[in-house]
Order: sequence, then C-alpha cells, then structure tokens
Amino acid sequence: MRRPLVAGNWKLNGSRAENARLLEGVLAGLGPESPCEAVVCPPFVYLDQVRSLLEGSAIALGAQNLSAEASGAFTGEVSAAMLRDMGCRYVIVGHSERRALYGETDELVARKFLAAHSEGLSPVLCVGESLQERQDGITNDVILRQVNAVLERVDIQMLSSSLVAYEPVWAIGTGQTATTGQAQDVHAYIRSIVSAHDAKIAAELRILYGGSVKGSNARDLFAMDDIDGGLIGGASLDPADFVAICKSAHP
Ligand code: 13P
Repeated sequence: MRRPLVAGNWKLNGSRAENARLLEGVLAGLGPESPCEAVVCPPFVYLDQVRSLLEGSAIALGAQNLSAEASGAFTGEVSAAMLRDMGCRYVIVGHSERRALYGETDELVARKFLAAHSEGLSPVLCVGESLQERQDGITNDVILRQVNAVLERVDIQMLSSSLVAYEPVWAIGTGQTATTGQAQDVHAYIRSIVSAHDAKIAAELRILYGGSVKGSNARDLFAMDDIDGGLIGGASLDPADFVAICKSAHP
C-alpha cells in the first residue's frame, strides 16, 4: 500500500539557531521511528546544516526548488546534482508561489521535473487552482492542464518515483483548508488522470494535500481514500504541530 508522507515546506523561513531548535523538537517528538515518511525542505543555504542535524534520524531531506539546467552560466541557480550532493531525496517542483511570483510556466515545471529525475531525486509536483478558478467551476480543467503538462513531456515510468501535491491556492497560508470532500474529489481526479496513462502507477502514486494543514485537521484529511499525506507550510515551523501532523498519517 501507499506509505503516507508528510513534508514540511519551510519556505523563506529559518536561521541556524531556529532550525536547530525546530528539529530538536521534531526529532524528540517523533522518536526513532516516524509513523509516516517525514521530510523537511529548508531553504538551500541550510541544506547542509539540516542534513547534519538529521543524520541517523528517520527524517529525509528535500529542497523547495531546483534549476532546470544541469550546470553553466545560470547565476543564482541550484542544480539537481547539487541537491543530490547535499543529501536531498526530494524536491518540490512547481509550487504555486513559484508559478505565481516567479513566472514558472507549465513547461518550465516539466523541465524541472525531468532535471530532478535525471539525478535520482523524487519530485513533488504541485498543482492547484486559484480561488477565481474554483469559483468559475474550472478546477478540474486547471488540474488536468497542470498534470498533463508534465505527463506529456516525461516518461510515465517516472511517476512511480514521484509525488503529486494538490495545493489549492486559496487554502495556502490562509487558514482556510479545503473540506475533506473537496480535497478527496481532486485527489481522486488526479489519480484518474494518471490512471489513463498507467493504472498500476496511478494506484501506487502518493498524492499529498497542502493548504492550511494543522495538527487539528490532519487526521480527517489523511483518512480520505486518495490523500496519502501532506505538504505543510506554516505548521511545519512549529515542532508540536508538525509532529502531530506526522502522527496523524497512518498507512
Ligand atoms: P500552509 O500550510 O502554510 O497553508 O502552506 C501550504 C504550502 O504551500 C506547502 O507547500
């Protein structure tokens, strides 16, 4: 069956001191055997620090973004190979903040997805509709476009070592979580899109929910058939909350 995964996306937060404090709390709260697969995604500059703090623990390391390019004259970029070198196993691709604030297109997201795979990283492909798109009744169209933009450019086999995160933009950082029904509907739809390409890969694909997940609502969300864990923003900066969310994820 699909082992649930809970990933903390720290976004643009942290300092050496805060990271150490946060992870001390998370590691103490989770104990040696995390109930789910747990991942933290700090800013690039802290990957090395966090890697050493996580050594010997069950928590894996991920990054929040990567370059589509392998190397060369691309000032300010960080490649998949560098992330691999720093001990990352996961990388978030196509987060809505990158799409909205940094102009990442579906095509660029697909190239980043491929770059991650070329180095053996597991991309966490983020998709999700805006409030306007939901109100216009085109949620599924948006999701279909975002998922297919990647599926059309990659080998479907790559999905077997990838994750998808459904993050409705209107639920990110707003405190307004999608209802369990709204989330389940979109998760099932995402699985059906992948299933049209390969049913077995779709059945095994882990689809995370993200958007104002907290210790208090995680259990209900994770209980839904097609929700296989979460991508957590704000609550991943609070050790007690992040641990509670991890403990809410059961196979
Ligand atoms: P919040 O949990 O802060 O809503 O953020 C969700 C998110 O964007 C995770 O990638």
